[in-house]
Order: sequence, then C-alpha cells, then structure tokens
Amino acid sequence: MAIKIVGTGSHVPSRILGNHDLEKMVDTTDEWIRTRTGILERRIADASETPSEMALHASRRALEMAGMDAKDLDMVIVATVTGDRIIPSTACILQKKLGAQKAFCFDIQAACTGLLYAIDIANAMIAQGAKYKKALVVGVEKLSSITDWKDRNTCVLFGDGAGAVVLEKRKSSGDIGGILASKLASNGCHADILQVPAGGSEMPMTHEVLDQRLHTIRMEGQEVFKLAVNEMVKACNHVISEVGISVGEIRWLIPHQANIRIIEAVGTRVGIARERVYVNLDKYGNTSAASVGIALDEIVRKGLLQRGDYVLATAFGSGLTWGATLLRW
Ligand code: ACO
Repeated sequence: MAIKIVGTGSHVPSRILGNHDLEKMVDTTDEWIRTRTGILERRIADASETPSEMALHASRRALEMAGMDAKDLDMVIVATVTGDRIIPSTACILQKKLGAQKAFCFDIQAACTGLLYAIDIANAMIAQGAKYKKALVVGVEKLSSITDWKDRNTCVLFGDGAGAVVLEKRKSSGDIGGILASKLASNGCHADILQVPAGGSEMPMTHEVLDQRLHTIRMEGQEVFKLAVNEMVKACNHVISEVGISVGEIRWLIPHQANIRIIEAVGTRVGIARERVYVNLDKYGNTSAASVGIALDEIVRKGLLQRGDYVLATAFGSGLTWGATLLRW
C-alpha cells in the first residue's frame, strides 16, 4: 500500500529583507533582481532562529495537520546544508525539542534537492515492511549564515525557512493518495560550480578563511542555470512516463524556487501551463532544501489541492543533485 503525505507545515522568519534594502548593501538594483531572478524579498533569521527552531515550528504544524503525536514518530530526517552544528545532527536537536523519543534521527545533505531525497528515503524505509510506519521529513536552511553579503552575484538570491512533511502508510485501500514515483540523480563532476569551499575538513576555519569569506556560497550562476533546466526537465519527464499519466493531468508543478527564469523554462519544456506552476520565490527567494516544502504547505493551506490531484515536485542543487517526485494527493 502506498505511502502518503498526511501533513505539511512551514515556517519563515518574520524579518523581511527587500530588494531596496539590498541596494544599500551592494551595487545592485531592485529592477535587476526582479527581472533576472523574480525575487522581491526574502526572510532572514535572527541569531535565536536556528535551523532546529525553524524546523520545530514547521514540524509542529505538519504533525498537527496529520493528527499525529511526535512521540509516535519512527524517524525524523532533516535535509539541510546549514545545520545548527557540525555535530550532532539537526535532526537529533529537533528530536529533543519535539519530544520524538521513539524516532531514529539523522540529517542528509543534498543541497536544494534535499527534501526530495529525504522523502524518497523515508518512503522506501516505510515501504519495506512493518518496522517503520511514521516519518517526519524537514527541509530547513539558514542560508543567510553562509551568504557573502558583499557579493552581489549571490547575496540577492537566498533566504531562510523550513518546510516539513509527515509520511505514513495509507490507512484505507479506498484512499487514492500516495507517492507514485521519484527520480533522484547526482553528478559530482560539477561539484565545484556551486560550493562553500571552507568549513569542512578539507579547508578548516582559520582567520584567513574568514577574511576571504571562503565559508560562504560560491556559484557559477549561468552554468548552474543551464544544467538545472535540462536535468529537472528530464527528471520530470521520467516520473511522468513511469506513472503513465498525461502532463495535462498534473494539477501543480512545484519547482525548486531558485529563479523565475529557471522555473518558467522547466514548466514550458515539460508542457505544464503557467497557471499550474507554483511560484512563491518572490516572497522568500531561494531557501534551498526548504523551498519545495514551503511551497507544498502553502498550496495545501490555501486549499489549492483536491483529493486525487497529481503534484509534481522537482529540485536542483549543489552536488550537483537533482530529482523529481510525482505524488497523488
Ligand atoms: N545586481 C546587478 N548586477 C548583477 C548582479 C546584481 N545582484 N549580479 C550579477 N550582476 C551582473 C554581473 O556582474 C554581470 O555583469 P557583467 O555583464 O558586467 O559582467 C551581469 O549582471 C550578468 O551576470 P550573469 O551572471 O550573466 O547574470 P545571469 O543572467 O546569469 O543571472 C543568476 C545570474 C541570477 C545567478 C542566474 O545565473 C541564476 O539564477 N543561476 C542559477 C542559480 C541557482 O539556481 N542556484 C541553485 C542552487 S543554490 C544552492 O544550492 C544553495
């Protein structure tokens, strides 16, 4: 029996950083940011808003929607590149805050594709038998902590936030919802085009590293752009043909919210009408592993999904990693 998303939740910090604020920080304009990226503003976490705190708020909402108690969870998976600490995992910190004593907990790192990777891992673990039944999966990022606020090429793109889903085996055979197919992929040959060079064991933190801001995101934007469009389109087509539905049956395409031009190119090339492509990038910017989860939660809470609707999510990020997941609500 299929595994379903039975609850969604999200959280973004209250502090808004608009394009006009960025005009005062770097040599940029609201017009450039809007037309080249589609972003109008993004949310920035303060010092007390750690990823585990943002994840906690999103998780509580998802659990409430699912009607589930945290103590009944079998697993907690957090997808993030900006965890609270190097060790322990943010999932373990979240476990304590939630009171999910029974769960085993771990983080995964697949950058912007992290939530889709984590959903597939949870799905496979629940599907394998009776051992695990209930999973909480969270994508959370505090990208503001690894953003170079002096680099106009990158600092206009990113924001902070969390998106969570609760997964459970379908309860009745009359229920048609569930995760239908997923395609995950990586290509480490492109590892250097989108990276944070320092802070790991290869280049530990030093004063020099901090002075050169090597602990912040470095990106070859145009190269990422081209690969993102091509690979997301291929992954979307793969899951659509695996499930055997027509593109016209898809109610929502939820693309990773990185750039409106990437989103529109993917929608057009997959053949999904613009009004069925969900966009909230204007409000939040690129929140990496959180982005698909925040978008899905908005769709659900705005009542934009009916039982039986098909939803196609796709993402792309550092690694390079990418993927697509097709589900039925
Ligand atoms: N304001 C004004 N001018 C700018 C800015 C800015 N904020 N940023 C760059 N420019 C300038 C550049 O310096 C360049 O000037 P030049 O022609 O004089 O050299 C010009 O604008 C064009 O720069 P490009 O990099 O060619 O601009 P492009 O149209 O490619 O847009 C962008 C850049 C928005 C980064 C785009 O390439 C993109 O979205 N790439 C994909 C990013 C992405 O999806 N990342 C995903 C994952 S992120 C993660 O994993 C955490």
